[in-house]
Amino acid sequence: MVKRKSEKFLKLVGKHQERIKEPKFHGTLADYLAIVEKTPDTTKLSHKRLYDAILTHGLTRMQKSDARCTKLFASEEIRTYDYFQEKFFGMERSLAKIMRFLRSASLKGEESRQVLLLPGPVGAGKSALMEHIKGALEECQDMFHIEGCPVHEEPLHLIPRSLREDFQDLYGIRIEGDLCPVCRFRLKEEFQNDYTAVPITQSSFSVRGRRGVGVVPPMDANSQDVTVLVGSEDISKLDLYSEDDPRALSLNGAFNVGNRGIVEFVEVFKNEIEFLHTMITATQEKSIPSPGKGPMIYFDGVILAHCNEAEWNKFKSENTNEAILDRIVRVNIPYCLEVSEEMKIYEKLLGLSDFDGHIAPHTLEIASMFAVLSRLHPSNKVDALTKMKLYDGQDVIEKGTVKKIDINDLRDESRDEGMTGISTRFIMKAIDAALSDSEKNMVTPISIRDALIKQVKDQIVVEDDRSRYLEFLGKTLHEEYLRILEKEITKAFVSAYDEQAESLFNNYLDHAEAYVNMSTLKDSVTNEEIAPDENFMTSIEEQIGITGTSRENFRVDITAFMFSKFRRGEKVDWQSYAPLKEAIESKLTSSVKQISRIVTKSKSRDKKQQGKYNEMVQTLIEEYEYDENSAEEVIKFAANNLWRDS
Ligand SMILES: Nc1ncnc2c1ncn2[C@@H]1O[C@H](COP(=O)(O)OP(=O)(O)O)[C@@H](O)[C@H]1O
Ligand SMILES: [Mg+2]
Repeated sequence: MVKRKSEKFLKLVGKHQERIKEPKFHGTLADYLAIVEKTPDTTKLSHKRLYDAILTHGLTRMQKSDARCTKLFASEEIRTYDYFQEKFFGMERSLAKIMRFLRSASLKGEESRQVLLLPGPVGAGKSALMEHIKGALEECQDMFHIEGCPVHEEPLHLIPRSLREDFQDLYGIRIEGDLCPVCRFRLKEEFQNDYTAVPITQSSFSVRGRRGVGVVPPMDANSQDVTVLVGSEDISKLDLYSEDDPRALSLNGAFNVGNRGIVEFVEVFKNEIEFLHTMITATQEKSIPSPGKGPMIYFDGVILAHCNEAEWNKFKSENTNEAILDRIVRVNIPYCLEVSEEMKIYEKLLGLSDFDGHIAPHTLEIASMFAVLSRLHPSNKVDALTKMKLYDGQDVIEKGTVKKIDINDLRDESRDEGMTGISTRFIMKAIDAALSDSEKNMVTPISIRDALIKQVKDQIVVEDDRSRYLEFLGKTLHEEYLRILEKEITKAFVSAYDEQAESLFNNYLDHAEAYVNMSTLKDSVTNEEIAPDENFMTSIEEQIGITGTSRENFRVDITAFMFSKFRRGEKVDWQSYAPLKEAIESKLTSSVKQISRIVTKSKSRDKKQQGKYNEMVQTLIEEYEYDENSAEEVIKFAANNLWRDS
């Protein structure tokens, strides 16, 4: 076994070595021109390079038939980029904006002279997103550059100004920028100005290797030094060379190494304003100062900056910063506001960790609901839970119909939503806490809620937030979880739940249709013509509060709905019409309430009931992904909370 693993791995090592040994291009301008002629794309500038690097992984236009698209993105066409799909959830809007920026910038418009700023609350995924974006460059094609150039500069810079127009006429490529001081010096001294002799090679992009990716961490005012950005004069060499001699330059600042690729500013506004002026010059002039007294150095790179929401607000409010604001394209990175997408974040994070406990069904769902609820702004139109469900693309039933609310109206009501609330890290910590408090190595919706309550009490100091969060946990989610649990236990309890539901559904449809058409229907057993059964229909309708005259409308609506589905050749089943689905579920639940109450009370179980109980536990384990302990815990919880007084 051990050996087989090693063999397999060594094979991978071999392949990797072959790949890194692939001969690198070494040549002169003439050789390089041949490459450019064949693939003009080689000379593309940084924004286009990054855009293409992400795009090659694939672009998907969300189909109108995709339920999530029609519900959540109603009138917009959303493009999703495959490169982000597996790792980032509920961020399509922000990602589409980032890509739109890169696309315009690749056309060398005004955007190519702007900083892309990503403000967002803590834990919204900004840093992770940056890493991923930089990763795209590492996988993309190599850049060609002058060999030995500290800024990996484009070889076409060798071509003198006087020939550039002819070059452009022939190749259709406009050359931007001039040689850096180091290359200029070498051209003169080493190659006696023969630019056709200067060696050219290729290199990959590498974050760790500081090739094409420069990172500027936040620095306090004391250690802030512009050399971090643009390099320095090497003091030890100043003995050997005169002051402005390029041989004394160390071009190793973030803008130097990030040339051709990306310069990232981490927590950008933690830096002093003066420090940021280089950033502005770099975008505006596409050049950066040279250390010492040398001339400006051409710079081509995507400048990405991120910061926390609070720092952004502070920065924005200071009017001395106007010049900088004018140079910024801002794309907010809010928290995810869709429960089902939020769940995927925790699945991803747990998958990456050594977490090995059991997670009971609905645990991450409850945690995600809390996270989303905490982030929503209050609405005049709906309550928080309803808004949460609508944002998640769920149907919300009210008085027997699906609530018709345009999700865009809700969004318009509260601009900048998702910039406050509970962070992903807060939730992860609660999951960890719940696990370590558990004696049975598990987390359940019950224990996660307890852990969250404790954590809110410990850590949330703003009184308004604190009481709002505790209300969500203590009331809203308590009730919501009981609804979920009641349905689930009913399902596990009723054998052949689906068939029973389906048969109720078909029966109801037959009767409602006959009622609407003022006709009769055939009794399935006796084959007699019978009138629609008013009692039966009422027993279903009252489950969702449809009584009196609204019953007629409900029957007309559902008959029309089903008819139109049939006509389009679409499949219908008991779940097709949300209000009826809810009524059927509720009907089934109430029909077993009595008996499940008895079964769940451990003291009063007789032998037959014990058998039924065991069967139910078995179903929960086999079909609903509980384990023995979690099944027992939720049943106990249900017994204490759902059926206590009935
Ligand atoms: N919408 C999201 N999709 C996927 N992962 C996310 C999302 N939001 C946050 N995360 C994850 O949460 C963790 C914390 O995010 P991080 O990038 O450090 O946040 P920030 O830099 O905004 O404070 C990361 O591991 C990140 O992958
Ligand atoms: Mg961060």
